[in-house]
Amino acid sequence: MRIETEMTRLLGCRLPIIAGPMFLVSTPELVSAVSGAGGVGAMPSLNWRTTELFDAAVQSVAAGPFAINLIVNASNTRMQADLDVCVRRRVPLVITSLGNPKKVIDAMHAVGSKVFCDVTTLAYAEKVLGLGADGVIAVSQGAGGHAGPVSPLVLIPYLRRNLPKVPIIAAGGIATGQQMAAMLLLGASGVQIGTRFIASTEAEVNQAYKDAILRAEPEDIVMTTRISGTPAAVIKTPFIEQQGLDLSFIEKKLLAHPRTKKIAKMVRMMLGSRLLEQASTKPTWKTVWSAGQGVGLIDSILPCSEIIEQIMREYESSAMIAIQKE
Ligand SMILES: Cc1cc2nc3c(=O)[nH]c(=O)nc-3n(C[C@H](O)[C@H](O)[C@H](O)COP(=O)(O)O)c2cc1C
Repeated sequence: MRIETEMTRLLGCRLPIIAGPMFLVSTPELVSAVSGAGGVGAMPSLNWRTTELFDAAVQSVAAGPFAINLIVNASNTRMQADLDVCVRRRVPLVITSLGNPKKVIDAMHAVGSKVFCDVTTLAYAEKVLGLGADGVIAVSQGAGGHAGPVSPLVLIPYLRRNLPKVPIIAAGGIATGQQMAAMLLLGASGVQIGTRFIASTEAEVNQAYKDAILRAEPEDIVMTTRISGTPAAVIKTPFIEQQGLDLSFIEKKLLAHPRTKKIAKMVRMMLGSRLLEQASTKPTWKTVWSAGQGVGLIDSILPCSEIIEQIMREYESSAMIAIQKE
């Protein structure tokens, strides 16, 4: 099956589905499986400890449109080196998050590649489009990772009403084909799905994390600033409850002060990543499991190709219902 949207035309893929880049979850196998099934797989460059290992991982992705995520704020000291890899390997799509994407847009456009930027507000979407972004990923409330504040029911039509004809990709809470149909109806050109793909056979996380995704209810998802300094969605576990969801008074001051904020952010990111790494790779009571509200709609661990097939079956049946109702 093929669905034509601004996104699929721009990227040359069959289906308007991006498997969202996920820190410590996405693997080249996951990316290749999603791209092979007609969507666009994505992975963050920081999933590898060095730029050299990242470069090798990029080369191991099987052909097909795929994406690399670059964190573009000052805390990412590898930004330029990882961008150079994306340029050298002509990565078809780069997804930027958390910062100013200008450098990335210019460098990727010079080799004919595309850049989508994560946005949570209209003002930021206008800013990145002004810098030349080819599309925006509208991250709404309920998303895994750094969720936005606005409901997707409002964010997608609001961006569509106010932006020129560029791909708007809906992200946040989407785990089924019915939701994808709804997002396309609201004006999205595609969807970016994260949490659903944690419960896949290709995701490189331990079984306890995958089982927690199947068990969790939407209201178990809470926002914490204790991982990166920016609110991030995690499953409420005894460890999260014990830690609290907010940073200490002193750390907040250090993160806000112009003299200390860069280093404070780097330290926070490092401590947070260490916690995430422990929780995703080995059994520990320090469970920091990042996930979005879509957990409530996920009840199976499947290969990525079957997840996409299931989403497409659900999409087709809900699209038929919409036609019958007309
Ligand atoms: C475990 C996890 C890790 C994530 N890591 C990143 C990341 O490193 N970079 C990024 O841009 N987005 C990251 N995200 C966000 C996803 O790419 C995607 O936008 C989001 O998961 C969509 O919402 P959903 O999880 O409700 O489907 C992460 C999400 C999750 C659940």
